[in-house]
Amino acid sequence: MAAIFELKQLAKYAWQQDRKPQTLYLFEQISAEVLQPQCIALIGASGQGKSTLLRTLALLESPDEGDILYKGTSFRSQDIRWWRQQVCYVPQQAIMLPGSVEDNLRTVSRLHGEPYEEELATRLLEDAMFDGLDMTKQAKDLSGGEKQRIALIRSLMLRPKVLLLDEVTASLDSVSARAVEQMLLQWHIHEGTTLIWITHDLEQASRTSNRIWFMSGGTLLEDRLTADFFNQPATEAGRQFVRFRNRGEEQ
Ligand SMILES: Nc1ncnc2c1ncn2[C@@H]1O[C@H](COP(=O)(O)OP(=O)(O)OP(=O)(O)O)[C@@H](O)[C@H]1O
Ligand SMILES: [Mg+2]
Repeated sequence: MAAIFELKQLAKYAWQQDRKPQTLYLFEQISAEVLQPQCIALIGASGQGKSTLLRTLALLESPDEGDILYKGTSFRSQDIRWWRQQVCYVPQQAIMLPGSVEDNLRTVSRLHGEPYEEELATRLLEDAMFDGLDMTKQAKDLSGGEKQRIALIRSLMLRPKVLLLDEVTASLDSVSARAVEQMLLQWHIHEGTTLIWITHDLEQASRTSNRIWFMSGGTLLEDRLTADFFNQPATEAGRQFVRFRNRGEEQ
């Protein structure tokens, strides 16, 4: 059976800097297979290209080399809008569309001509700890953390098969962040959605994932089970990266 999602020798050139020829890669030779629905934490130092990789997987940027396959078919032979329905990127900085909160949540049904799932919206709002939110409120007037959660719920309502999450709890207090984690893990279990989740919070990575993608040195340096990665990174860069977290645990 074809993998749900497959990355084959994926590469993105770095922007031209200092008039160097375009031979330097931001990342290269990224290969991985997702055979069954999984929760993957994508971690690595700032500037490694994690966000760019996720944006590339959602075809918001084009890969310079290599291939991405969804259920065995290359992105090159798929309609881009269809692809983005299956593989959805949720940015760190939420983008609200003009209109009310409800208008935003209705976007998916409007765009795809499908009925609006009001019960689902209500349940997800509760799960994301919105208590008595005024649905007629202008979305632009929401706080950063509120926008982030509305954008996330809007993406869930699209029911993508692969959900790419870019630090989606970064501007939330710890209680709301935990609620959102739970909401996403439940969603993963019930809907069978694969989550690829960028986080700088290594505790969150170990709580929410069963697989780690560790980016370093311009590639996917380690692709491991979460427990194995944190207990025994296979590379020196991995060891350096988890050192502080493991030290914190010893104290
Ligand atoms: N082709 C490119 N596309 C995007 N960014 C590029 C490219 N070439 C070079 N860069 C640079 O590489 C870095 C990539 O940033 P990106 O946001 O993907 O990293 P990140 O791992 O998500 O970092 P952070 O953890 O800080 O969010 C930026 O500094 C950007 O300016
Ligand atoms: Mg980023």
